[in-house]
Amino acid sequence: MASILIIDDEKAIRKTLAEILSYEGYKIEEAADGEEGLKKFSNAVFDVVLCDIKMPKMDGIEFLEKARELNPDVPIVVISGHGNIETAVEAVKKGAFDYISKPPDLNRLLITLRNALDKQILVTETKVLKRKVSKVQQMVGNSEPIQKIKNTIEKVAQTDARVLITGENGVGKELVARWIHEKSNRKTGPMVEVNCAAIPGELIESELFGHEKGSFTSAIKQRIGKFEQANNGTLFLDEIGDMSLSAQAKVLRVLQDGKITRVGGEKDFSVNVRVIAATNKDLRSEIERGNFREDLYHRLSVIVIHVPSLNERRDDIPLLADHFLHVICQEYSMPVKEFTKDAYEELKKIDWTGNIRELRNVVERLIILCDKQITGKDVLNFAVVKK
Ligand SMILES: Nc1ncnc2c1ncn2[C@@H]1O[C@H](COP(=O)(O)OP(=O)(O)OP(=O)(O)O)[C@@H](O)[C@H]1O
Ligand SMILES: [Mg+2]
Repeated sequence: MASILIIDDEKAIRKTLAEILSYEGYKIEEAADGEEGLKKFSNAVFDVVLCDIKMPKMDGIEFLEKARELNPDVPIVVISGHGNIETAVEAVKKGAFDYISKPPDLNRLLITLRNALDKQILVTETKVLKRKVSKVQQMVGNSEPIQKIKNTIEKVAQTDARVLITGENGVGKELVARWIHEKSNRKTGPMVEVNCAAIPGELIESELFGHEKGSFTSAIKQRIGKFEQANNGTLFLDEIGDMSLSAQAKVLRVLQDGKITRVGGEKDFSVNVRVIAATNKDLRSEIERGNFREDLYHRLSVIVIHVPSLNERRDDIPLLADHFLHVICQEYSMPVKEFTKDAYEELKKIDWTGNIRELRNVVERLIILCDKQITGKDVLNFAVVKK
């Protein structure tokens, strides 16, 4: 259901419009002047705004200017009284979607709203698409460990050295891997990701190396494995600590001689793949327990990048929180909210066991549940889930 904000100082007009448009299935919010309208506009997302021009406190033109600064994507239709068509034209020049004159002709009103909504949908769709094709996400943070990691990425990206990325859940291991690929001269090639923990042991071999038709019961056609897909690019072996020992043996072979054989295949062939691996496990103790091959560990860990937990770099929390605030408000096409000083302080005190992923979720929750200003009290109320 599309939502419309109606701003008009004449109660009768507001009520009539609200009645007609609710009947048409729109969700309606009303405001009696530009000031009240702007307040509502900045605290919620509307699909269209219908706005009178002549109003006390803040007139329609001023509202238009301020609203477009807050969120230029929401179409604003101005309603002009007799005799101020010129102002209506001015409004359109300043970015209003269209104008209708008073008393509004019902058909014209509904068509204009329909057009405005269509435009709004297109704008949102375009944004979503742009985001989908957009580049690797920014790596935010100024703390010493993050600066060191960025430095290391710059240095290792140019080489083909294998990199092992370690760190707790949600610290940004995958992001590091993506940046290494992005900054390397393999960036025009593919970056292929395999989540070793998500693939059943008996399928991992075919997943990584592919198989020939008929090589086992469910192999009804030939399949290209991830190593082959990643040719001339990067293969990201995520959660490598969860890979079975037999798969580890096969991966070791590829790393040793750069050749793969498809399951059920006769000959082996060379692939040109850079391998980056990641894990949240302590591979050294996994080696001691006999769960991880030491020879594979040494092959994978030419360069080790350890991404510290968020609790170890609390100074980055305000920056990260602001970053997610902008990103998420944009995703929701809503005006950007803000944290008060004490909100940052409270965020810095939380024990972030889920690291950056958890921080992102908390910021999203705060955006949904709080007003324009997110305070320390809000953080205390909503951020820490009470047991
Ligand atoms: N420095 C950063 N700046 C901005 N966003 C970040 C940063 N680090 C991580 N993120 C974001 O946090 C989320 C989690 O990061 P990522 O998936 O890379 O973590 P991970 O270490 O691979 O986690 P897991 O161990 O659970 O697989 C992602 O949405 C990622 O884009
Ligand atoms: Mg990951």
